[in-house]
Amino acid sequence: MPKNNRKPKKNDVEQSNVALREMPEPQQPAPDGSKRSSSHQAARREADPRLEHLNDLRYQARQGGGEERIAKQHKQGKMTARERLELLLDTGSFREQDAFVLHRERNFGMDKPDKQFLGDGVITGWGTINGRLVYVYSQDFTVLGGSLSEVHAEKICKILDMAMKTGAPVIGINDSGGARIQEGVKSLGGYAEIFLRNTLASGVVPQISAIMGPCAGGAVYSPALTDFIFMVKNTSNMFVTGPDVIKAVMHEEVTFEDLGGAMTHNAVSGVSHMAAESEADCLALIRELLTYLPQNNLEDPPFEATSDDPLRMDDRLNTIIPENPNKPYDAKDVIRMIVDSGQFYEIQEHHARNIVVGFARLGGHSVGIVANQPVELAGVLDISAAIKGARFIRFCDCFNIPIVTFEDVPGFLPGVDQEHGGIIRHGAKLIYAYCEATVPKITVITRKAYGGAYCVMNSKHVRGDLNLAWPTAEIAVMGPDAAVNIIFRKELAEADDPNARRAELVADYRERFANPYVAAGRGYIDDVIEPRETRPRLINALEVLRNKRDTNPPKKHGNIPL
Ligand code: HXC
Repeated sequence: MPKNNRKPKKNDVEQSNVALREMPEPQQPAPDGSKRSSSHQAARREADPRLEHLNDLRYQARQGGGEERIAKQHKQGKMTARERLELLLDTGSFREQDAFVLHRERNFGMDKPDKQFLGDGVITGWGTINGRLVYVYSQDFTVLGGSLSEVHAEKICKILDMAMKTGAPVIGINDSGGARIQEGVKSLGGYAEIFLRNTLASGVVPQISAIMGPCAGGAVYSPALTDFIFMVKNTSNMFVTGPDVIKAVMHEEVTFEDLGGAMTHNAVSGVSHMAAESEADCLALIRELLTYLPQNNLEDPPFEATSDDPLRMDDRLNTIIPENPNKPYDAKDVIRMIVDSGQFYEIQEHHARNIVVGFARLGGHSVGIVANQPVELAGVLDISAAIKGARFIRFCDCFNIPIVTFEDVPGFLPGVDQEHGGIIRHGAKLIYAYCEATVPKITVITRKAYGGAYCVMNSKHVRGDLNLAWPTAEIAVMGPDAAVNIIFRKELAEADDPNARRAELVADYRERFANPYVAAGRGYIDDVIEPRETRPRLINALEVLRNKRDTNPPKKHGNIPL
């Protein structure tokens, strides 16, 4: 990591980016000190056998596992490891490291020349994305199936160590048959070395994994330790034990895609965060994600000037909440009407859709957005939503990204499945994440804030910095119907016309409690605002909170309920 906390000035950044982008081939000065023409230089290089040898080796390294295997890779709809890096990084910015590394295995015929490939199945180095430094590694399936040998692991570890020292994100492209079977425990040790570095780098530099082929066995745990996993539909899969083992042990038949394909991990398990249509789409999505993130935990996210007026008000927000409190509206519409240019980068779009999380900008500054989603299970909090929300909030807190919460939540999902599945433990993760976060935290209650969910969703009591409510907000222990059924059970049982009496009591309860003014009267809500004012109010609040400093008590680390 950088030794001091000095923020780079604009000129520094431009200077260093030029150096990263444009690294000319070394020029040989002429004996008289004058610069020679490039054709003269080229001719001299060709004549020098040492330079020829170097160029030969570089050429060999670029061939990976050879034409045949490259053709097979292409036939499967996959790019090669180098093609992927070319697309991921700014043109010409890639600088390779360890291209001449060879594995050290001598058993199982591994000493034969046809089992030795320069670089040993992983391409590592650094480059830039939108002018900013990133470290990369890209596994080359054409070389021994991209399998991980001892030296392959060492190359990845070197990259992770450099990323930590210099404070820049790491992107790993995974396409591998897993542990190099011929190397046995040396390969396993290599994985463990990577896991250690992934863990130590967690919360220091952003780590992104792209899965672009098989990722099986213990190999899945390196991506799982990183911040975001991207998968490509139809060509990538992740599993701890494959279909054959599952069939032998559990007598269950399942395809690779159903077991661990992109949509399985995006929609069902929640292991993956993004499902891309193609490899090119995946790499473009990674480039875009990085625009919202700082380089490391000591920096702020980059500012991106916007032509969207910070004072813009969208009148549609004033009528977006339906009259009927049980009728849904799309939380993503609300988000898009408020954020810069309507641009919302959603994370885990397909998983736990009752909560929406993702990145956007307000007045040019990155924010993490968390919103209950009324169109999905009425926006209720369940196990998956709590885990999804908590992980996202913790990421934002690690990397100095303010959190804006849009709240419309009827409570926690009731049910035996949820209770037995541990909603108590998992729901606590969401509370823990909000409570421990020290970045600026703003909440806008758009409609329901019932029961424990009111406390959880960044209430004033858990250090919400600014808690706003729309006039449509209903802040209460529970919804009016449920409340009346409990507190007037006896009276309703004895009423001549229970339905009419219930309607009266519900209306009375709604008027007295299901509004924002009781909470605002106590200071639990800082202000009640017109919905259309939300954008300017949020941008103003973020400006006010820009230099917010808050800390947690010193400790080794907390004990989040895992
Ligand atoms: C060494 C491997 C290899 C491996 C593939 N290859 N996996 N070499 N170690 N793990 C080699 C093949 O021998 C072949 O070499 C080339 O890579 C391409 O493999 P194919 O089988 O021809 O490719 P394909 O048909 O596309 O099948 C891909 C595959 C399959 C599904 C990944 O190769 C496979 O099942 N591999 C083994 C997967 C596995 O069980 N790995 C160990 C997981 S346990 P040639 O020379 O013919 O091109 C694990 C533990 C990690 O990883 C624990 C960490 C804590």
